[in-house]
Amino acid sequence: MQSDIKKVLYSEEQIKKRVGELAQEIKKDYEGKDLLTIGILRGAVMFYADLVRELDRPLHMNFMALSSYGISSSSSGAVRIQYDLEEDISNKHVLIVEDIVDTGLTLSYLTKTLNSRNPKTLKTCCLFDKPARRKVDFRPDYIGFQVPDVFIVGYGLDFAEKYRNLKYIGELMPEVYK
Ligand code: PRP
Repeated sequence: MQSDIKKVLYSEEQIKKRVGELAQEIKKDYEGKDLLTIGILRGAVMFYADLVRELDRPLHMNFMALSSYGISSSSSGAVRIQYDLEEDISNKHVLIVEDIVDTGLTLSYLTKTLNSRNPKTLKTCCLFDKPARRKVDFRPDYIGFQVPDVFIVGYGLDFAEKYRNLKYIGELMPEVYK
């Protein structure tokens, strides 16, 4: 697995430090408010688990799973909910936790969908932002790192379902995905 990695972009320590900083920011913004966090399966699993523990305050946790259709239809913004919430989010402070925003199609679709369910507030927290790949205008409320347009894996992010369990974020060797 390690031999497929060209270089380490963010070490375990760098990620931990940034997740802690994001948690401080979020804690301050939601002080005195009930908070429902929603982790997006599967890529956000590691980030979500670490972030909520750093938040160290009362909150509710839930999950959703989304997938985009094939290449042709994903450019039209077609995203499918594979696993939806069963709870009512109306009148709740909701924070979506994602690993990465790339084209922006997933989060743009998800925020529109959840906003139609009338939450009190809806914000997004992404560990990685790849603005160079954006197809729709979308900016998360909380961003961990802005990343260059290279193929990154690890800490939840995969290529062909591999590398999710790396403790760091690595740049994948081009020969692996080309
Ligand atoms: C990844 C990631 C985001 C989405 C971002 O999910 O977790 O949900 O892509 O891309 P976008 O901004 O171009 O929409 P993926 O569909 O690979 O599923 P996974 O979370 O199960 O890895």
